[in-house]
Amino acid sequence: MNQMSIEEIKEKTSKYLFQNYGRADLAFTHGKGCILYGHDGREYLDLVAGIAVNALGYAHPEWTAAVQAQVGRMVHVSNLFLVKEQADLAERIASITPSGMDRTLFANSGAEANEGALKTAVRYTGRGKVLSALNGFHGRTSASLGATGQEKYQKSFEPLISGAYGYFPFGDCEKVKEMVDGDTAAVMVEPVQGEGGVRTVPAEFFKTVRDVCTDKGALMVCDEVQTGIGRTGEWYGIQNFGVVPDIITMAKALGGGVPIGAITTTAEISSVMVPGTHGTTFGGNPLVSAAGCATIDIMKKEGLVAHSKEMGARWMNDLRGISSPKIKDVRGYGLIIGVEMDSAETASHVQKYCRENGVLVNVCHGNVVRLIPPLILNDSQKDRFTSLLKEAVL
Ligand SMILES: Cc1ncc(COP(=O)(O)O)c(C=O)c1O
Repeated sequence: MNQMSIEEIKEKTSKYLFQNYGRADLAFTHGKGCILYGHDGREYLDLVAGIAVNALGYAHPEWTAAVQAQVGRMVHVSNLFLVKEQADLAERIASITPSGMDRTLFANSGAEANEGALKTAVRYTGRGKVLSALNGFHGRTSASLGATGQEKYQKSFEPLISGAYGYFPFGDCEKVKEMVDGDTAAVMVEPVQGEGGVRTVPAEFFKTVRDVCTDKGALMVCDEVQTGIGRTGEWYGIQNFGVVPDIITMAKALGGGVPIGAITTTAEISSVMVPGTHGTTFGGNPLVSAAGCATIDIMKKEGLVAHSKEMGARWMNDLRGISSPKIKDVRGYGLIIGVEMDSAETASHVQKYCRENGVLVNVCHGNVVRLIPPLILNDSQKDRFTSLLKEAVL
């Protein structure tokens, strides 16, 4: 294997790539399970999973075999033709979504899935207004950026964002009731605000959004890009609240690592998207669809959704048991857990301490250590982080 030094990779990166990411000085040659192997010769326990993507970890033997077999047969064919693998994956998605939500349109990323969902909602309702939560994150394309209620992401791109968007505080039932009206096409919400610091709100909020949307004829769009496909201990995060939205968007974990996105809804809502309204060259091609089928099959076979719920509950219990003024809150569902620290400095210290000790964690929203590991994580791996956190804060 061509193992370059970190310095060489860094030099090439700064010479040939856009400098739009704040990258750590780390690069990896390969991974196995929850472990990443670095160009620095070290092993790292990965609790980031490519930002909630690698649900099966790295190089899962069955997933790898399915993807390799598909590569050998056919990677891509156009949506001008029937695509068997795409229909197979849509059928699998129908098997894990609430009943009646059995029509899927494929995209290539989370932002694109959200873009397609909003286009669908606008066409279905014949209305133009989209409401979403402050501090949410829905992606970086024009419409998904418009729905992202955070100035830091929208700043300098205002010309691309129309006046179609409005924002309510996440969890504010009264504001939602006040804002949704006869011009509202969609209310887009995350079940747990991932990028926004693993923020959670009571079930009552989602029930209110559901009721108000039904009442006013708007569509409830659930952005499950980060929370979907088992992450929260249910197939979809919104299932933790007993609410069924009109449209679900997903991406990240769906393909087990390949770029994929999807919009799932009812036959009735999907029917407005006739030929010519929306589409993408790569969306749901045989390769990513085969990867998606393998991901869902393996998750079912290995019981990873239940594992996520059970391990997440125990982990949060352990973390809440650490008594330190530096830990302000521990929250989440399943294996999306946010440990809110007393300051950005503490969060960054925890991240650095973990990395020095061979564990990768992500810090989001300034002071929140976000744990979004592969769903195959085992107990000793979970405990390794808990011990390091204790050492870092006590
Ligand atoms: C909830 C949510 N929606 C949308 C996106 C955008 O997805 P992508 O980066 O695949 O475009 C993200 C990415 O982090 C996300 O967390």
